[in-house]
Amino acid sequence: STTLKAAASPRYFGAALGAGHLSNVSDPKFAEFGAAQFSGATPENEMKWDFTEPEQGVFTFDQANQVAAFAKANNQILRGHNLVWFSQLPDWVETLQGNDLLNAMNNHITTVMTQFKGQIFAWDVVNEPMADDGTLGPSPFLTQLGSGYIQTALTTARKADNTTFLYINDFNTEGVNAKSDGLLSIVQSLKALNLIDGIGFESHFIVGELPTDIQTNLQRFADAGVDVAITELDVRMTVPPSAADLEQQTKDYATVINACKAVSRCRGITTWGITDLYSWVPGTFPNMGAALLFDDSYNEKASFTSTINAL
Ligand code: XIL
Repeated sequence: STTLKAAASPRYFGAALGAGHLSNVSDPKFAEFGAAQFSGATPENEMKWDFTEPEQGVFTFDQANQVAAFAKANNQILRGHNLVWFSQLPDWVETLQGNDLLNAMNNHITTVMTQFKGQIFAWDVVNEPMADDGTLGPSPFLTQLGSGYIQTALTTARKADNTTFLYINDFNTEGVNAKSDGLLSIVQSLKALNLIDGIGFESHFIVGELPTDIQTNLQRFADAGVDVAITELDVRMTVPPSAADLEQQTKDYATVINACKAVSRCRGITTWGITDLYSWVPGTFPNMGAALLFDDSYNEKASFTSTINAL
């Protein structure tokens, strides 16, 4: 195959797509590559709480709609990302206490999911709930609502739209470790209540530092009765990249693809962007970059070739 989406079929191969990049007339390649190479789309930021409900009860969907329209026009599955997360919250959410936050969370979930009903393959209902030690991580939702907030959010989500898959999405859960152990036990309780359909494994990796047991870990979640997906894949390295790191990156991408392919419930793979030019990595991890499959000029990297070959 010559495209990621053709090679990945019947799984989807998606990308995080920013509305600002899709509509940037001075860089038409972003939308061109977004359409040509990918069968899935995740709004990189546009469905997050700070974008969709910047003031309490005031919902703004313009930018999310741009990404949704692009996905629809290009026959892409759309991942809803995300509804309940400690980050990218507007200030007003952080000031609410007790039942006020509970009501705001439920209203947010219901309103956003209702808006996009029929368009979303899967929703990241709760994003990044876990701490490294396998307990729940710090969040205003945990502080104000207690550890039941995840079950509450998923119950509300199921009621709002029972035609979409409900996911929890997290990072550093790709291998077998204390964090993924903790997540798995939560998944088992939620599955018994029919409140969870899938788990997203972000997969923001450092070159040469992948867990060796990704397949084993994905399989144990699948065995718990849920789908799994690689939701935010990138493999970062020190920049400017060395030839050795770029070579290792080709192997790391193939490792992830092979792990997903070996697990029948692995529904798809999403990279967190298209081109290294707009990747979130340099802005978040000092001196790191070159994490994706296309370079700053949209040339296919060696990582693209190894990914296509592994798919
Ligand atoms: C990142 C975006 O890529 C950035 O543009 C934004 O400034 C911060 O968030 N885990 C997630 C994603 O679930 O939503 C994050 O996306 C990356 C880490």
